[in-house]
Amino acid sequence: MKVTGGDQKVLPNPPEEPMLEGKEAIARGSKLFRDYKCVTCHKTKGFVPSSGPVLTKVGRKLTTEKMTTWIVNPKAIKPKTTMPAFAGPQRDLQYIVKYLETLR
Ligand code: HEC
Repeated sequence: MKVTGGDQKVLPNPPEEPMLEGKEAIARGSKLFRDYKCVTCHKTKGFVPSSGPVLTKVGRKLTTEKMTTWIVNPKAIKPKTTMPAFAGPQRDLQYIVKYLETLR
């Protein structure tokens, strides 16, 4: 998955760890969703609601591409948004997206 545009801060993957697959990838994404503080603004199953939109059905609502753009460059979609752009390795971004895709 290649992401382009805006003031994005996605970093290259550290080489030492191979990408996880399936359930393991989704579990990692769910953990990263907390680690990257997405939960401070977004409600998903088991997390408390706050200022951002509820993401419990985001996997049904958004395409993978649109979801990724929201995360790496939210201002490209909504210039006045308070959502910060994701800053971290590409791999973590992919795990988070895999997790969000399961929210249906
Ligand atoms: C400071 C609060 C905040 C944080 C932190 C945050 N977001 Fe958001 N996010 C928002 C807001 C607010 C919107 C809606 C756009 C708007 O109205 O500004 C949004 C929109 C989204 C959308 C689009 C939702 C839809 O229904 O179209 C996705 C997907 C998303 N965020 C994922 C994430 C992920 C993943 C993270 C963590 C890497 C994250 N957000 C961190 C506030 C936040």
